[in-house]
Amino acid sequence: DNPALIDTFGRVATDLRVSLTDRCNLRCSYCMPAEGLPWLPTEAVLTDDELMRLLRIAVERLGVTDIRLTGGEPLLRPGLEELIARIAELRPRPRLSMTTNGIGLARRAARLAEAGLNRINVSLDTIDPETFLAIARRDRLSHVLDGLAAAREAGLDPVKVNAVLLRGVNEHEAADLLRFCLDHGYHLRFIEQMPLDAQHGWNRRDMVTAEEILALLRAEFTLTPASEPRGGAPAERWLVDGGPGDVGVIASVTRPFCSACERTRLTADGAVRSCLFSNDETDLRGLLRNGADDEEVAQAWRMTMWGKLAGHEINDAGFAQPIRPMSAIGG
Ligand code: GTP
Ligand code: 5AD
Ligand code: SF4
Repeated sequence: DNPALIDTFGRVATDLRVSLTDRCNLRCSYCMPAEGLPWLPTEAVLTDDELMRLLRIAVERLGVTDIRLTGGEPLLRPGLEELIARIAELRPRPRLSMTTNGIGLARRAARLAEAGLNRINVSLDTIDPETFLAIARRDRLSHVLDGLAAAREAGLDPVKVNAVLLRGVNEHEAADLLRFCLDHGYHLRFIEQMPLDAQHGWNRRDMVTAEEILALLRAEFTLTPASEPRGGAPAERWLVDGGPGDVGVIASVTRPFCSACERTRLTADGAVRSCLFSNDETDLRGLLRNGADDEEVAQAWRMTMWGKLAGHEINDAGFAQPIRPMSAIGG
């Protein structure tokens, strides 16, 4: 009996991304409309006990070694610190990370680290307050910058920054963002925009490609490929001006990394997905609430991963966006 989450292409999912809520307190234009989205009703969202049961099954029976908490915005999940403390008690203890927009992080980073969070990725698309307001539709840049500083002071390590460049909006800030992150010891990664926004407004012409990003950076810095193996990591990395500072590019569209994918995903309402772009999900919440035992749940999870496709198909003719937007899947 093989405990692992293996697919028909031989990939093994050891990395679990968990969406803790589909809600968010920003309204980034490339993610959701100004008015927000019809959020999941509370009773649809997994309770802490339900979520912990699934995480325990993942760690004990399915070989998951890394857990990343995402959203929406995970800091909006009530009782987050207690949840983290419970995850840190699982054995074997998973490495625990979180992806957040950083709002409210300033006063919570120390407590999150104490509870057992190991590292953090913070979204920051601009260091200009007006551009921040234009993209996120909320005037909160200073909250994010304070949150980043607090994360570093709390000993979360590494602190990574995620930036999405939008043509004609913040594209010209690529080098400034990198300089800012190098100065503060944050590891910056640029992300190609993916067709996952709730409005279905993505188009290829407006996507700032990895090639363009690298050209923008090379105008001001010397980039040399990082030497250590990339493994399943979405980011390709370069040392900046000889190091130790670095920069990454997550080129999901123009340089897909699906063949090395190590990820499985759980939505806030308890559906497991084999891929960010999968169109089928398995409702584990239903199994839990109908009294299934641990092995039945584990087997349903394995079966879902067995159906994982080779890749996301964004570049194929006839590609259709998944039904759920990024904010409801968990990135
Ligand atoms: P690290 O472990 O720190 O490298 O995390 P990460 O880069 O996987 O996580 P993060 O949540 O910071 O995600 C950064 C970007 O990578 C987001 O835009 C994610 O949607 C994207 N990403 C993460 N995993 C995948 C994936 O499996 N496929 C694709 N296409 N994009 C992904
Ligand atoms: N394409 C690429 N990245 C996106 N993000 C949100 N929506 C998209 C998209 N459509 C980014 C966020 C955050 C990370 C988890 O994903 O900015 O940094
Ligand atoms: Fe919120 Fe992240 Fe979407 Fe922005 S990209 S609206 S921070 S979920």
